[in-house]
Amino acid sequence: QASSIPADRVPDMGKRNLMNLLLVGALSLPSGIMLVPYASFFAPPGLGGGAGGTIAKDALGNDIFAAEWLEIHGPGDRTLSQGLKGDPTYLVVEKDRTLAAYGINAVCTHLGCVVPWNSAENKFICPCHGSQYNNQGRVVRGPAPLSLALANATVEDGKVVFTPWSETDFRTGEAPWWA
Ligand code: FES
Repeated sequence: QASSIPADRVPDMGKRNLMNLLLVGALSLPSGIMLVPYASFFAPPGLGGGAGGTIAKDALGNDIFAAEWLEIHGPGDRTLSQGLKGDPTYLVVEKDRTLAAYGINAVCTHLGCVVPWNSAENKFICPCHGSQYNNQGRVVRGPAPLSLALANATVEDGKVVFTPWSETDFRTGEAPWWA
């Protein structure tokens, strides 16, 4: 039927096709851009961190770089990060301004409240029922039955990476209850 289209319509058809192309392009461009964050979101985190490695994230969800963290957080600091399985996990700055090789899971072993760090008391003190943990997360007062869980904290490509802690709990000399 193309031959029946009046000659003066042809340029319009061409324009319309161009419009359609632009429209399709405009619609597909944002979804193309969206793919990048999604792809990186689903990419395995902690590449080179071994199985189960997770890059520690700050409160804004950004990867934590050890050097930057240590510029802001001084000796003795315990600040929450996002750890394995998204668990709130304390990064520990040692007295010599290095990052401790362990992170402390902040989930109270009593009923699961997130336990804040109390630097004045040098303890973690649970606001829910008063359990206390020393500065390494070892339980020192109930009702919490167990110490706070640990995660290995290492630095890879400048970023802090958590991996599951399956070794002996150095605070108690016992097998880790969480592994
Ligand atoms: Fe922490 Fe009960 S949940 S003391």
